[in-house]
This record gives sequence, structure tokens and C-alpha cells, in this order.
Amino acid sequence: MGVSAPASRAMPRSFNTAGPCRPELHYMLPVLRRLPGVRQIIEGEGYFVLHAPRQVGKTTSLLALADELTSQGRYAAVLVSMEVGAAFATDVGLAELAILSAWQRAARHRLPVELQPPPWPDSAVGSRIGAALEAWASAIGRPLVVFLDEVDSLQGEVLVSVLRQLRDGYPQRPKGFPSSLALVGLRDVRDYKVSSGDRDRLGTASPFNIKVESFTLRDFTAAEVDTLYAQHTAETGQVFEPGALTRAFALTRGQPWLVNALARQLVQVVVPDTAVPITAADVERAKEILIERQDTHLDSLAERLREPRVRAIIEPMLAGTTPGTLPEDDVRFAIDLGLVRLSEGGGLEVANPIYREVIVRHLLVSPRAALPQIASTWLDADGRFDRGRLLDAFVGFWRQHGEVLQGAAPYQEVAPHLVLMAFLARVVNGGGSVEREYAIGRGRMDLRVTYRGETLAIEIKTWRTGDKKNPLKAGLAQIDEYLAGTGLETGWLVIFDQRKGQGSVAKRTRVEAATTPGGRGVAVVWG
Ligand SMILES: Nc1ncnc2c1ncn2[C@@H]1O[C@H](COP(=O)(O)OP(=O)(O)OP(=O)(O)O)[C@@H](O)[C@H]1O
Ligand SMILES: [Mg+2]
Repeated sequence: MGVSAPASRAMPRSFNTAGPCRPELHYMLPVLRRLPGVRQIIEGEGYFVLHAPRQVGKTTSLLALADELTSQGRYAAVLVSMEVGAAFATDVGLAELAILSAWQRAARHRLPVELQPPPWPDSAVGSRIGAALEAWASAIGRPLVVFLDEVDSLQGEVLVSVLRQLRDGYPQRPKGFPSSLALVGLRDVRDYKVSSGDRDRLGTASPFNIKVESFTLRDFTAAEVDTLYAQHTAETGQVFEPGALTRAFALTRGQPWLVNALARQLVQVVVPDTAVPITAADVERAKEILIERQDTHLDSLAERLREPRVRAIIEPMLAGTTPGTLPEDDVRFAIDLGLVRLSEGGGLEVANPIYREVIVRHLLVSPRAALPQIASTWLDADGRFDRGRLLDAFVGFWRQHGEVLQGAAPYQEVAPHLVLMAFLARVVNGGGSVEREYAIGRGRMDLRVTYRGETLAIEIKTWRTGDKKNPLKAGLAQIDEYLAGTGLETGWLVIFDQRKGQGSVAKRTRVEAATTPGGRGVAVVWG
């Protein structure tokens, strides 16, 4: 080692994808702007709820707010977690001990000595949290502000006990109990799950009826994404082209973790040379890598698809049909998870294109695995992609395997769509792409297949029991519109006839030539 190493430029920060952000290590947006109104509640000695989906920045924001409040000298503010209590559903005493020991450690790291809690007092089971908060608030010379992270990870009796203890101590604030306190989690307090049943919520009988307000954290705006990415440009010189910024926002809709994860793939994997500007095409590649990686955040969202109430919402959205009346609770749950959101035009949609792709690919796993061996008959003798041959191959495949494979698909309402997509995935097999466009509530799904320099547009419709009208006419008008939008001359209109009593798939599958209202020739596939 040399004695005097040359002064080197500080290491640039990085895009964080693992846990809360730290300003010295990570590119970061200022957090307080995303928490308007919270300061006022704290100054008014209010108790409140902060709820937002996973990976939106709850912990990051409240850690920063606590630091700021404490360093300004008026409050002792700290974020502590309830998560370790989640291991106990019924043993209140053990949960309390685990939680309090975690608090002790957090306080030691985050607060100056004079603001740390005293040794926790002895207290009976079911009153230890309250007694600890009381001792803490009484022992220090400033009003205590406590943010309880991951509250809704607690279950059953433990959760109810904690909430009751908070309500019980509330009148003693600010001297004998935290002057302000926040419950932080995925859900608002009335939706906390209080028993192991799927639907047992606290509801209006909440023992935490002392909250004055519920806040949520929004995703980043397009301007915020630009600002965050500009921090990387400032530190490394690497430029994001305007088209790249637009595409990054379109794909993530500003979901904070996605915004960071996409950028991380971009600067570390896709364009590691900081002298090279980042383009929209690079963003597309980074998105692919990100989706393939199955990081925890995306994987755990996909896992949610197993839950019947989540499925009841997602399934019709994928099929492009308008969901019937959905239980309000279930809709709120899916929104709270961050999986769907209310679109600007009203109605539900999957929260962003990346989540949508993750969902579909997750649903495609088993249909793809169930696919039989298929010879590449869609290539001509020179290895060129031939649409006519592909059409023959699909019809043959559908006649022979369509029925059985649909039975194996996870979501029955979109089973034929999934099988067709699995087939197309086999066709392009890494050498092309199948892009999905959704037209929610418009009764269709549009696919664009790109393979060996050729593009094929496919529109899928279903004819269900109870639909009076043959969907052919509407379908021809819609594919006309779709083709016009994509600049393509021809495509397939696939109509899955799912009405009861239509005979076997093998018998009814056929192809007809048709002309759209705009005069385009298309192949209509009945399946
Ligand atoms: N202020 C910020 N600036 C930039 N990125 C942020 C910011 N806050 C959060 N993020 C991004 O969001 C991710 C998650 O942050 P954080 O852990 O604070 O969220 P959370 O809502 O507490 O998540 P969870 O519900 O899983 O606990 C970070 O890893 C980072 O990618
Ligand atoms: Mg968190």
C-alpha cells in the first residue's frame, strides 16, 4: 500500500433496490415533499396512519423525517418496527418482548444517548408496549414521536392488544406517552387482518379510533424520475436521452422500486460505459432483464395471484372484459397491494406495464411447461418466417391440443389466451418478442408478434355463453383500428368460442378469410 494514495473522486452513489435508501450511498429524492400534511399532524400531537403498497418508500421517508425532527431539537423522533412480533399470532407476551428488544436496538443506533429509552419497566403481559412507551416519553426532555413500521404484519390477538395499549396511553401524551405516533403498513387500520380468516378485518370497531388522519405515499411523477436519473448523470457524466426518460416512466409509472431497479440494470448491465448515452432501446432491454430476474419484489407480487380474491380482479382485466361487480373489500385489497390502480378514465388497470408483464409471464409458466414438442414448420426451406405456415401450424396445434391445454391453464377465463401466448412464445423462442396490448373493458386482447424481421398483429376475442351477438363484426372493426395503429396491412382475428355446447375444439376450429371495414384482408381463426 502506498503511503499517500492519490485523492480520488468520491465513489458515485448507486440506484438502490435493497431496502430503505441512505443518502450517502444512494441516489435519492427528497422525502418530505411526498408527505405533505404529516408535519402538521405531528405538531398538533396527532396519531395517524401511513399506508402504501410495498416498496414505495414508507420506511425511507419516515427514517428521514425522524432524523430531521430529532436533529431540529424539538422532538425525539424514531422509527421502530413491529415486524418481529409477526412470528407470534397468539402469544402476546412473547411478541411484546421480541418487539421491545428490537426497539431498544433501533433506538440505540438512531438516537443520541439522552433520548434513548430507559431499561424497559416490568409490566404484565398485555401492557408491556404501553408501559415501555410511557417510561420512554417520561424519561426524556422532549416530546417523543414514534413511527411504528410494519404494524399490519402483526396478527390476531397481538395486533389487537398493541392497538388497545396505544389507545389506553393516548390521553397521557405528550408528557406520559408519545406526543405523536404513526402506524405504518400496507393497509389502513380498518383493513388490518385480525384473524386467520381471509375476510376478518377490524372494520369500524377499530380499537385505534384515535387516529386523526390516514396518509398514503404516491408513486414518483415523471419529473421526479427525471430528477432522480439526473443525479446519476451529475455524478458520472452518463446521459439519459429524453426518449429513455419517457420510456422509463411509461414502463414504471413512477413506482419507486421499479424506477430504481430499471436504472440499476441500465447503468450496471446494459450500458456500463458511462461515456455512452442511454437510449429508449436500452430501457427496453433493461426491462426484459428486470422481468427475467424475478427479484423478490416482483416475485412476491406474482405470488399474490394465487389468492382467489386477487385472481377475481386480475382475470377479467387480462381478458379485456369488464369485471362484473367486485366486492369492494377485494378491490381495495388489490389497490393496497399496489397491483392495480384506478385509471384516469375510471375503471381498474394493472398498476404499470412491468407488473402487467410479470403477471402474464407468471400465468404462462404452467401452459408453457405443458406444451408438447412442436416442430418449427413455420419456417420455409430457407429458414424464413412464413405467416401462412404459422397459421397452419397453429390451427393444427389448436385442434390437437387446445382443449387439453386450456384445462391446465391457471385462469380459466383467459385460458385460451394463455395457451395461444404459450404457443407464440415457443414460436419466437428467444429470437423475437410477443408484446401484449390491453384494452380493458373493450373486450379484446391485442398481440404483436415480432420474429425474424416480420411483424404479425393478432387480436383475440371470446364469445361467451350469454353473449347474444356474434363478436365477428366488432372484431373486424377493432382489428382494422389495431392494424391502422400499428401500420400493418394484415393480421389474425382469433375468436375463441367458449359458449356451452359448441362441440369439441378439434371439430370447431377453422380459418376463414375476411375483409375488414377498411378493406384489409385478415384471417379469422375460430377456436
Ligand atoms: N426517496 C427516495 N428516492 C429514491 N428512491 C426511493 C426513495 N424512497 C424509496 N425509494 C425506492 O423504493 C425502495 C423501497 O424503499 P422502502 O424500503 O423505504 O419502501 P417501503 O415502502 O418501506 O417498502 P416495504 O413495504 O417493502 O417495507 C428503495 O429500495 C428505493 O428503490
Ligand atoms: Mg418498509
